[in-house]
Amino acid sequence: MGNERPDWRLETAPARRRRQPVAFSREAEPLAKDCRERFDREWPDCWMAAAAELDWHEPPEAVLDDSDAPFYRWFPDGRLNAAENCVDRHLEDRKNQLAIRWEGKRGEKRDYTYHDLHRESTALAATLRDLGVSEGDVVTFALPTLPELPIGMLACARIGALHNVVFAGFAPDALVERMTAVDSSALVTCDGYYRDGLAIDQKRKTDAALAALESTVPTVVVDRLGASHEVELEAHQYDYDDLIDQYRGTDVEPVSRAATDPLFHIHTSGTTGEPQRMTHATGGYLAGVTWSARAVFDLAPGTTYWCTADVGWITGHSYVVYGPLARGATVVLAEGNPRYPARHRPWKIIERNGVEVFYTTPGMVRTFMKWGESFPAAHDKSSLRLLGTVGEPIGPDTWKWYYTHVGEERCPIVDTWWQTETGSVVLSTLPGVDEMKPGAAGPPLPGMDVSVVDDEGRELPPGEPGYLTIERPWPSMLAPLESDHYWVLAEYWQEFSDDRADSWRYITGDRAVADEDGYVTIIGRADEVVTIGNRRLGTAELEAAITSVEGVTEAAAVAGSADGDTDLYVFATTAQERDTRDRAAIREAVADAMAERVGEFARPAAVVFTPELPETHSGKTMYRILERIVEDRPLEDSAPLRNPEIVGEIATLWARE
Ligand code: WTA
Repeated sequence: MGNERPDWRLETAPARRRRQPVAFSREAEPLAKDCRERFDREWPDCWMAAAAELDWHEPPEAVLDDSDAPFYRWFPDGRLNAAENCVDRHLEDRKNQLAIRWEGKRGEKRDYTYHDLHRESTALAATLRDLGVSEGDVVTFALPTLPELPIGMLACARIGALHNVVFAGFAPDALVERMTAVDSSALVTCDGYYRDGLAIDQKRKTDAALAALESTVPTVVVDRLGASHEVELEAHQYDYDDLIDQYRGTDVEPVSRAATDPLFHIHTSGTTGEPQRMTHATGGYLAGVTWSARAVFDLAPGTTYWCTADVGWITGHSYVVYGPLARGATVVLAEGNPRYPARHRPWKIIERNGVEVFYTTPGMVRTFMKWGESFPAAHDKSSLRLLGTVGEPIGPDTWKWYYTHVGEERCPIVDTWWQTETGSVVLSTLPGVDEMKPGAAGPPLPGMDVSVVDDEGRELPPGEPGYLTIERPWPSMLAPLESDHYWVLAEYWQEFSDDRADSWRYITGDRAVADEDGYVTIIGRADEVVTIGNRRLGTAELEAAITSVEGVTEAAAVAGSADGDTDLYVFATTAQERDTRDRAAIREAVADAMAERVGEFARPAAVVFTPELPETHSGKTMYRILERIVEDRPLEDSAPLRNPEIVGEIATLWARE
């Protein structure tokens, strides 16, 4: 078998380098070189392979219902429960295996076996039910990376309620907006949490949000800070532990859900820049993340795996909670920033837990790189066998550093491209199967049909940059509620016809270029969305915060990596005739407004005042020009501007910063 196994190769590796044996690919075994052709030939039936990863109450007979395209319905006649797939079905074979190991900021550790996970999530399910949450209702979570977050998500899934996880760092306004949008029936939050050593009062923040809501929602408060922090509970507020103690041992049968029933909401940003309510369906989503957790991340029952993403973002939903737990893996959950408190922390976590698969962002790797290789070198990383990245393009230099100093030239890297809307990985090499090309995300996964097109929707030949689109539906795709169909259609779908049939094309919002081998390199977003610390934010939301400051008339927020880390920069125009003293105050007020209205993470690295913003003739801000200025890239953009003369002036103002 060993000789027949497909070889993975690093294109740039010198031929003389001795290739070390890689523990591949136990789980990717059925994914031979020809699987792409096979999936293509058998599409859409090929996706039954993903459905087969799950346990069903009623296994689906039909793969795809496309009668209401582009609102595709996957496995339409199947029924299942997501929590049962992530928890209950493991009890027979691995109830005492670690499901979640949580490492707190202060060196605390909490272990949950699959048995524990079952007990705790069932108790919370019983609690929520008694607080009035029923099937189809929505529960909002405003929690940092605590075990109670995955437990809570699974508790919801158990009773067929939808979770709506809102990043804990969001300010009250942002939380209210995201709770109202889903008509949330309950809230789970905590007293506070630590950020880089500081205790952050989360309760005060959520109380402010609760006061702004129109109706009272029952609120469950997790005690994170312990005795050091007294919390006052008001009417309809409950202590998490008190409730769980009452309900522990109560049996809650997993509710049977149609595959097409929604599993959760999550907010993202689209071209309008405002937060958008996204929805994923139970069967297709879970099948997609479970299949890719196996094919891309090679997760097997018992594999120890660490993904540094916040559970509150899609990466955390798909590849901290659902995919890995459905596969029966052991998930390491590290609270807070892996960079804090010490530069050795990430490597210690890997060393002491025997992490086999590590998934992080290029930004994090760039930080590790800046600190130097002595930190990873000081630790035993021999347990690692596969590395991954997500969130932004990883440049070849960063890639090579990751490959050499973390992967010890032994571990393949999967550069996974995907989005909140796609639910699971779309572009990636398959470890043990495909060659890697540093800098290029990779070819589409088997069954995925990706193309790069021009403004008119015409497919572009290799080498020509254009818009990244997806031409055939896939199981974990967005499954919007009917009331969202109207805007989702306008935002994401384009109708086209080719020789196959009239069809729909999903617009990703990214610009990209494909090569002769079908490997896709991502250039960046084509729309008004910034990605900061792997958090996707609409510029409109940020700019509303900026222009709330008196004296600011217009603003543009851009993300850029001026010195390795991606930071947020603000360009703003002010009411005339203000002297420079005023400006210093405005600058500070802008930074505060962004931190208060959006979140501390949105505090900008710089605020630059300019007489005008670069604009198209239709008055849209040309973000691309500002990004180029921030990143010190040549300004050759030929896009027609209403005010081309302003570009040089902004560049000068920027240089003075
Ligand atoms: C970007 C995160 C380059 C891209 C999973 C996409 C990437 C947006 C990559 C989605 C990658 C994600 N290479 N760019 N490997 N992965 N992106 O919804 O612009 O938070 O559209 O989902 O991140 O961000 P989202």
